[in-house]
Amino acid sequence: MTTATTRPTAVTGAVGTAHTRVEGRDKVTGAARYAGEIPFADLAHGWLVLSTVARGRILSVDTASVLGMPGVLAVLHHGNAPRLDVDYVGMLGVPPDPTAAVFQNDRVPHAGWPVALVVAETPEQAREAAEALVVTYEEEPHDIGFHAGRPDAHPVDGHMPGVTEKGDLEAGFAASAHVVDAEYTTPEEHHAMMEPHAATALWDGGRLEVVDSNQGTTWVVDELVRMFQLEPSAVRVRSEHVGGGFGSKGVRAHQVSAVMAATLLQRPVRVVLTRRQMFSLTGHRSPTTQRVRLGADADGRLRALDHRSLSRTSTVWEFVEPSAGVARVMYDADAHRTANEVVRLDVPSPTWMRAPGEAPGSFALEAALDELAERCGVDPVELRLRNDPDRGPVSGLPFAGRDVAACFREGARRFGWAERDPRPGVRREGRWLLGTGTAAASFPAGALPSTAAVTAEADGTFTVRIAAADIGTGARTALTLVAADALRVEPDRVRVRIGDSDFGPAGIAGGSMGTRSWAWAVTAAVEELRERLVPGAPVPPEGITARSDTTAAVAGLAQKERHSFGAQFAEVAVDVTTGEVRVRRMLGIFSAGRIVNPLTARGQLVGGMVWGISMALHEEAVRDGASGGLYGPDLAGYHVATHADVPVVEADWLEGTPDPDDPVGIKGVGEIGIVGAAAAIANAVWHATGVRHRHLPIRPDRVL
Ligand code: MOS
Repeated sequence: MTTATTRPTAVTGAVGTAHTRVEGRDKVTGAARYAGEIPFADLAHGWLVLSTVARGRILSVDTASVLGMPGVLAVLHHGNAPRLDVDYVGMLGVPPDPTAAVFQNDRVPHAGWPVALVVAETPEQAREAAEALVVTYEEEPHDIGFHAGRPDAHPVDGHMPGVTEKGDLEAGFAASAHVVDAEYTTPEEHHAMMEPHAATALWDGGRLEVVDSNQGTTWVVDELVRMFQLEPSAVRVRSEHVGGGFGSKGVRAHQVSAVMAATLLQRPVRVVLTRRQMFSLTGHRSPTTQRVRLGADADGRLRALDHRSLSRTSTVWEFVEPSAGVARVMYDADAHRTANEVVRLDVPSPTWMRAPGEAPGSFALEAALDELAERCGVDPVELRLRNDPDRGPVSGLPFAGRDVAACFREGARRFGWAERDPRPGVRREGRWLLGTGTAAASFPAGALPSTAAVTAEADGTFTVRIAAADIGTGARTALTLVAADALRVEPDRVRVRIGDSDFGPAGIAGGSMGTRSWAWAVTAAVEELRERLVPGAPVPPEGITARSDTTAAVAGLAQKERHSFGAQFAEVAVDVTTGEVRVRRMLGIFSAGRIVNPLTARGQLVGGMVWGISMALHEEAVRDGASGGLYGPDLAGYHVATHADVPVVEADWLEGTPDPDDPVGIKGVGEIGIVGAAAAIANAVWHATGVRHRHLPIRPDRVL
């Protein structure tokens, strides 16, 4: 590992220097408690019962026979559960996923749909009764057949347009010296964070309190308030430590059913999901089939680009995996078309999963670029440099720093790209064929409105309160450094309290926007506090508190194409007698604006790249046509990269040019590490073997 090249940004210089996690000792000693292990007096336990059919109607729920079982307190189902309001658009701009709004009708839209909650004195009693509960169904034929060319596929305008187009595509392809036209597929993938979803709900003095594991307490409050039609001030959500989220930890069936049961029983109720339940209840990444057509001049300059992606959603919630979005940012052409289409099938709802859109989209687009480089006889790095646009290809907006070329140049230098022989299939080392590959990476740098409070305490320390979420990213530590620099004190005089909706609204840990959004609010609160602190004057016992709200500032940010960028490099070895692919080394060079804490930022980037190895070689959830469910929905059946699969993975970053219109300067490192990583590996497998792999994962049987 080399050291980071981060510029010092403030007087104390805490930002930009490596700090171990402020809660690290608590985590490794077990003092840090997660949502499922915080003790409560008089706690009851709920266990969800999931449908065994893939489509149909619930005919009966035989509650009588389990209500007599030891410890059983209640069985909730569509026949007795309170009605929820699901007719709203939440703070993320989308309606709620009905999978979370449990027990509202007798319809079963997919296998593993929540049909009942059994509540008992102990988790074991609840589980035993849940497994004994007899639910009968009227089954209907189901359709889970996902493939390109489905007539019911339709483009979806989500947070981005479904289709963008300019210029004459067919004329562009006709005039091109080289054309690549290929179909790429990625499978259904699941975010399997270490800590399963868990929540405890209780009513305390007229307020609903939910102790939870989520990516934003503001988000969970917002959804619960709307579903249960409560006053916002009547709900408090806490989420102090979170063992991973990756997009799946919003409002889910476990919180909603726990609130229902706590309301009915008037005692605390905890619902913890099992690993297997997570596979149908907490979202996943849709499979994609993507057709990419690239037309270029003899020298590799793009004349026409067409990226069309089809993903899959459930029949109850429309979520599109926007894989073609990456082409709207990365490459321009006079004729340019992108389309994100979706088809509704009898499957669980997908959701945001690390780098939604960019992860599968960059696999297809960057693999197609590699195929074009081969056709044109242009080096893959050089091809990307020749096609580096200076404005957003679709938006026409200027980039707030686009350092793709600089990332490639630095990466190529450090990876030793110049010595690469472009011919495929010519390097052999014993039973291994060796190859190297590269791919570009990008991820949007957005911001969400947030509020923060900073208190100057009488003892000379400072307390920051913000409803941020540290989902394992090191956000708590990053905010400590940001606050210390803004206050011009050492970090050990700053305590940062997060994960409590009573601190006021804040953006989520999602979309790579967390640290950027919260740092903005914390800095603004400190600026306000500094105005109010009189040098030399004593601080009263209750301290002096200043607050911030970045809503107006975020809305007023100048419109630009703001993204983190990067260049991925991979070396692989392929055993063509066993089909085994081993990644030997990876290098990612990123440009992500200001890096707050090199230690945890590197962890985010390397973690994303490791996930890219996993995506390229291992991950694949396979649905059974007969049952509509998954084969082996657990970590035995769903393979992820483990230590033995992960070689030297190095991530580093460039300083980048600060954007004068951007008061924060942080662009985000949460998701970009996975973007382009699978393509770099697939391109390296081609370089090793001379065979293109357009379908992930690159399993041994596909290599043979
Ligand atoms: Mo991320 S997929 O926005 O949590």
